[in-house]
Amino acid sequence: MLDPVKAWHEEHMYFSRLLRLLRKEVEVFHGGDAPNTQLMLDIISYLREYADQYHHPREDEAFRRLVALRPDRQLPLARLMQEHRVIARAGDELARMLEEIDAGAIIQRADIEEAAAIFLVYYGNHIAREEEDILPLAGRLLQEPDWIAVKDAAPAGNDPLFGAEPLERFRDLRRRIEAEAA
Ligand SMILES: [Fe+2]
Ligand SMILES: [Fe+2]
Repeated sequence: MLDPVKAWHEEHMYFSRLLRLLRKEVEVFHGGDAPNTQLMLDIISYLREYADQYHHPREDEAFRRLVALRPDRQLPLARLMQEHRVIARAGDELARMLEEIDAGAIIQRADIEEAAAIFLVYYGNHIAREEEDILPLAGRLLQEPDWIAVKDAAPAGNDPLFGAEPLERFRDLRRRIEAEAA
């Protein structure tokens, strides 16, 4: 089995890259130019489809197992699980606004910026706390059967963006990410 903590960390690095890209587009918008709403929607839809469907359910399973082993960490772990739901809702809200802009609706710049800031700040802090507090703890405490259960919590998740065969509709986003990294 691939080192599960390393794989977990790598996903966080991918998500962080996407959040940086999203933040750049929000800054374009803040500067008064038209943002690339399609790119922003692609980022959010990837995060909803992959992170919300696979990454977060797997983490929820890991967190439940960590709570059983370390009841003293119950509070921060429960908070992280709750944040998965908040992140999903904040992403939905931001996507809804961007879709409305695409459909020609006039939306206050401040409203979009606020929705984007909530999503970006929440998500960024969430990942940072997992990286600092939880991954090292999981690496020490979880055993092989735990990691199997974690993977099985959301089986067969092919990453449609960063995986070996990205989906057609994520090709633009993938190219953009590769250009940023170069
Ligand atoms: Fe998480
Ligand atoms: Fe995470």
